[in-house]
Amino acid sequence: MKNTSTYALFALSLTMAIGQATAQNTSLSEGDITRKVDSLLGLMTLAEKVGQMNQYNGFWDVTGPVPAEGDAAGKYEHLRTGKVGSMLNVQGTAEVRKVQKIAVEESRLGIPLIIGFDVIHGYKTISPIPLAEAASWDMEAIRKSAGVAAAEAAASGINWTFAPMVDISRDPRWGRIMEGAGEDPYLGSKIAFARVKGFQGDDLAATHTVAACAKHFAAYGFSEAGRDYNTVDVGTSTLYNVIFPPFKATLDAGIKTFMNAFNELNGVPATGNAFLQRDILKGQWGFNGFVVSDWGSVNEMIAHGFAADGKQAAMLAANAGSDMDMESYHYVNHLESLVKEGKVEASLIDDAVRRILRVKYELGLMDDPYRYCDPEREKTVIGSTEHQELVLDMARKSIVLLKNEGDLLPLAKSGLDIALIGPLAADKDSPLGSWRLAADAGTAVSVLEGLQGYEGNAITHAAGPGLVLGEPSFIMETKINTTDRSGFEAAVAAAKNKDVVIMVLGEHGFQSGEGRSRTSLGLPGLQQELLEAVYAVNKKVVLVLMNGRPLTINWADEHIPAIVEAWHLGSQSGNAIAQVLYGDYNPSGKLPMTFPKDVGQIPLYYNHKNTGRPTQPAPDLVFWTHYIDQSNDPLYEFGYGLSYAKFRYSDLELSSAAVGAGGTVTVSCLLSNNGAYEGTEVVQLYIRDLVASRTRPVKELKGFQSIRLKPGESRRVSFTIAPSDLEFYSANNVWEAEPGEFEVFLGGSSSTELKGAFVYGK
Ligand code: BGC
Repeated sequence: MKNTSTYALFALSLTMAIGQATAQNTSLSEGDITRKVDSLLGLMTLAEKVGQMNQYNGFWDVTGPVPAEGDAAGKYEHLRTGKVGSMLNVQGTAEVRKVQKIAVEESRLGIPLIIGFDVIHGYKTISPIPLAEAASWDMEAIRKSAGVAAAEAAASGINWTFAPMVDISRDPRWGRIMEGAGEDPYLGSKIAFARVKGFQGDDLAATHTVAACAKHFAAYGFSEAGRDYNTVDVGTSTLYNVIFPPFKATLDAGIKTFMNAFNELNGVPATGNAFLQRDILKGQWGFNGFVVSDWGSVNEMIAHGFAADGKQAAMLAANAGSDMDMESYHYVNHLESLVKEGKVEASLIDDAVRRILRVKYELGLMDDPYRYCDPEREKTVIGSTEHQELVLDMARKSIVLLKNEGDLLPLAKSGLDIALIGPLAADKDSPLGSWRLAADAGTAVSVLEGLQGYEGNAITHAAGPGLVLGEPSFIMETKINTTDRSGFEAAVAAAKNKDVVIMVLGEHGFQSGEGRSRTSLGLPGLQQELLEAVYAVNKKVVLVLMNGRPLTINWADEHIPAIVEAWHLGSQSGNAIAQVLYGDYNPSGKLPMTFPKDVGQIPLYYNHKNTGRPTQPAPDLVFWTHYIDQSNDPLYEFGYGLSYAKFRYSDLELSSAAVGAGGTVTVSCLLSNNGAYEGTEVVQLYIRDLVASRTRPVKELKGFQSIRLKPGESRRVSFTIAPSDLEFYSANNVWEAEPGEFEVFLGGSSSTELKGAFVYGK
């Protein structure tokens, strides 16, 4: 270890060489940063440069003694010798300070580490899973929710989140669907933008913001058959028009980092893909932040059959534009010799290091490496009342009312005898969902607790088979699939003669997420059987679904009068659900993803193409695009969601039937609330480009507005359609609006039929 006086002397000379900012002066101009990065780069050896490109997982119990041997010992030595630029999965100010101290005070140049963590939907205070948040269509709420996550993570020593995941996916079999915004590139782009703004705020060096990371670049959400890590093969139109837009939106929001992906894309692994990283991202889009690999994805190029060994994998990844290697060790082991052998240009290494150092400057780490390590702030910020209130609001906004026959909901607040049934009803862990690494297990408000907040009704709780409460999550995960019937009859008996039965069914919190692909999308375990048995003795059932993906719940849709989609809603889950069930909050969520009737229909998405044979030409003729055993229709379409208010759409008007190139069209309709409750409706605008150089979808979302109406109130809602709304990646391989006829639709879901038409650019 360097002694303190040597360190102090060296630090002084380093400060003079690179002109570090003083503690008061954290916001550096672009020019300042470039100058400082360049002068620091000039001091670095090749090994130190490669070190910046190396990221390690937290490697020992930093509160304990430094390991003496094994892999961890090697990593520790690397930290001291400047061979590590970043670490992930180190959390808490005390732990982060310890690793940071080694990098800053014991390595030759003392360059601080950037500390990464998967802060996906909250840090300790957990927000709804991202797919649920997407159902709110409320960008301000989503931005604030990401802000809560950032503030808590930053208070805990972290300065970089591996979020947002902006992978569009049309496949609910894919477990990671819960991490994204669903199937639509327009909604996905708006949400991607909001999340980046929420994480990064206006000032990256502020102590309540973190650098964001758009992942997984690119096309990971199109893994074949929804099987995680599987092959991706998609064409130009889908890549540019569907997959790229949310990534581009993160750039527009000023994102600092990207993560590449595990999958191959059209035969080339994303990690070694120069087209994605160099041509598109750093070339056409001018991204000046850095790209981190996914966990071990440099190494996985060997299994992909793209690299023969670790050295070749390092060469391919670095040349393709992957700036930082997460846990493959191939950069740290091979990059130096690859440069010396002329297989990787030294200028590419310089470019990668510049990108990484720039973000460190922007985060204020070079000014004060411990700026995120204040234990006092950690205590006050994490779990604050304000944060709990914000995630409660986000949770209420994420709930989607799928069915409400006979206005069974909202429930009366007194005089009811209620049975609360289902393995998830009292579960305090599942609502936290997947990807909540820092959360304390079992800290969500359960539905039972939420309902107990209302004292006017009697509640009989019977879990039924499926979960043993109080056990750790990974055990519960298996229990929900149980065939053990204990509790089954008791639950059915509890449902008899009650005024209403609330059943909380769905997926355990860890049944979605990474590595959790499913081939069937029904209710796992005995839950479907339980639902039917309860319904047989009491028809007044409210089904509350807790899940991380669309489910095939046809039977429930046919029989159960009220269905509430409550996803995995995070820390305040039970309170949000209770407020909706009792009408203290009128649901306004809309599905960000199609619910299929059958797994065999997947991929099923609203913005599909028309095909050459869209309709049955004559009765009994089979030669059209369909199934012989299932309809083409979804169970619930994209954009669908009810309210306790009753919204009606009418009177669509267009400002003109024809507009020249560059012109705009205004479209409006009358929205009325014919119900007894005040409510909010997400009014959606869709277009269809009827003839184009590359075929266009039958509908494409191009705008939405939340409108709040009192009972009996009507309002004209209007949207302006600009040329940019008509653009797509055309056969000329550019984004352009082609002249021609467009249909335009307004309504409360993607199945709306209220339409008009106009001609553009002719
Ligand atoms: C995931 C990434 C994540 C990384 C680090 C990988 O398995 O694909 O999304 O950020 O691990 O935890």
